Amino acid sequence: MIMWRGVIEEFRKFLPIDESTPVVSLCEGNTPLIPATCLAKQLFPQINLYLKFEGANPTGSFKDRGMSLAVSKALEKGAQALMCASTGNTSASAAAYGAKAGLPVYVLVPMGKVALGKLAQAMAHGATVIQIEGNFDQALGIVKELSQDDSIELVNSLNPYRLEGQKTGAMEVSDQLGVAPDLHILPVGNAGNISAYWRGYKEYRTAGQIHALPQMIGVQAEGAAPLVHGRVVEDPQTIATAIRIGNPASWRLAVQAMEESNGRIFDVSDEEILHAHALLAQVEGVFCEPASAASLAGLVKLNQVSHLPEGTTIVCTLTGHGLKDPDTAMKASPEPLTVKASRDDVSAALRL
Ligand code: F0G
Repeated sequence: MIMWRGVIEEFRKFLPIDESTPVVSLCEGNTPLIPATCLAKQLFPQINLYLKFEGANPTGSFKDRGMSLAVSKALEKGAQALMCASTGNTSASAAAYGAKAGLPVYVLVPMGKVALGKLAQAMAHGATVIQIEGNFDQALGIVKELSQDDSIELVNSLNPYRLEGQKTGAMEVSDQLGVAPDLHILPVGNAGNISAYWRGYKEYRTAGQIHALPQMIGVQAEGAAPLVHGRVVEDPQTIATAIRIGNPASWRLAVQAMEESNGRIFDVSDEEILHAHALLAQVEGVFCEPASAASLAGLVKLNQVSHLPEGTTIVCTLTGHGLKDPDTAMKASPEPLTVKASRDDVSAALRL
């Protein structure tokens, strides 16, 4: 078996790097494209549904694709430190790749609004974590100012190498399916990933690897849906804390992706997100974080409002692993029963 070498080596010819770029990789990418046969059977029998499970990346989210490239380029230019604002996953990824690169990492997160697993990752990897009394958009404003100095590299998706790395997600989906899907559905927060996927599909078509392009469908949370409403949301709120963003950095690119692909953007409620989160875990056996489930929630809604023809191939990107946010999963489930350590008590508890 030939070992997967990470997105930079595997997609080298599509990326802005050369032989002298020091490659910082944790062998990210090569994530499973899971046929969602159980969900499709139950909810959308006419559809071929696949889940691109980005939770299988080394730090448990899609951010690793872009972080590998951003951190490699930071080393190449001689940066002395990495910095980002984050709803959690970017900081976990920056912390891991920074550790591998031997660079200090400074992260700003909104206090009390980052899922536990993500915070634990940033801390475990030795990043300096600052919680601000504010939201992600405010944190991003601050890190943009602090990273003016060339020695501190901003690794949010404003960094062009982040999107370059993340576009490999679309290339992998195309390789795995052998074609582009008809529809590709993604949760949208800072709007970088949907923009990156669209770029990936377009470049793959130019290279002759695929012949058609998908429609890009973006899904935001109802209380944090600036793209849906066409205006900044000052105080975004959603249980899906990863996408609790009111003023996305890649706004223009995401709108472009939707327009060029004849796609659309819409929002789903927190209840719809939690329902999709449970369906994925309990019907398909795939545990993702709440923000990721927005893509399935979006598909459920899309299926209600429009006709999806027989044989349509749809990919939902599940952006992050369920273990990132154990609190939400626990709250949505009944308390485990506690009984004495005896066969009879267990049997009675299980009503066997
Ligand atoms: N899903 C998850 C799990 C995320 O962590 C994010 C973004 C998104 C979806 C949205 O992707 O921003 O490219 O539109 N998380 C960022 C972070 C903002 O700081 O970790 P996007």
